[in-house]
Amino acid sequence: MNDDLEKRIREAMANPQNVGELPNADAVGTVGNSECGEMLRMWIKYKEDRGRKVIDKATFQSFGCETAIAVASLATELIKGKTAEEALSLKTNELAGDLGPLPPMKIHCAELVQGALRSALEPEAEAKPLSSSTSSAQPAPSLLDSFNQPKESGVKVIFLKEGEQGS
Ligand code: FES
Repeated sequence: MNDDLEKRIREAMANPQNVGELPNADAVGTVGNSECGEMLRMWIKYKEDRGRKVIDKATFQSFGCETAIAVASLATELIKGKTAEEALSLKTNELAGDLGPLPPMKIHCAELVQGALRSALEPEAEAKPLSSSTSSAQPAPSLLDSFNQPKESGVKVIFLKEGEQGS
């Protein structure tokens, strides 16, 4: 990583914005990267603004990766006042904003932030017609709970009654 980028990340890390769970969030998105082990969760709260449903506040939680935290900090500021569709149209380099171009090995950190945004915002962007009455998210488990939860095996067990084993 070049010195300039390191300095900008350090500056963003010195005062990260919008860290922590957002009480009464309308949407939550969680993503993880299996290769580096990083997980990121984002909370979104919407508001009505001149007939548009826009992002009022966005917060995040992350384990450790400084680049992901720096990008999430910038991104959660950047998407305020945007609709879900507008926020979803932002590219990773736009989300990373002032950090400038990321080196190839750090691009996935910005993609993690973009993935968490997509996970949180897509239900709203796909909702037609827009309805504010159905936007309440279920209380989500903590990020640590999700991290510790065993992954589903993907194997579906079906119990057959006697005599149903096929012909
Ligand atoms: Fe994997 Fe940053 S190193 S998200």
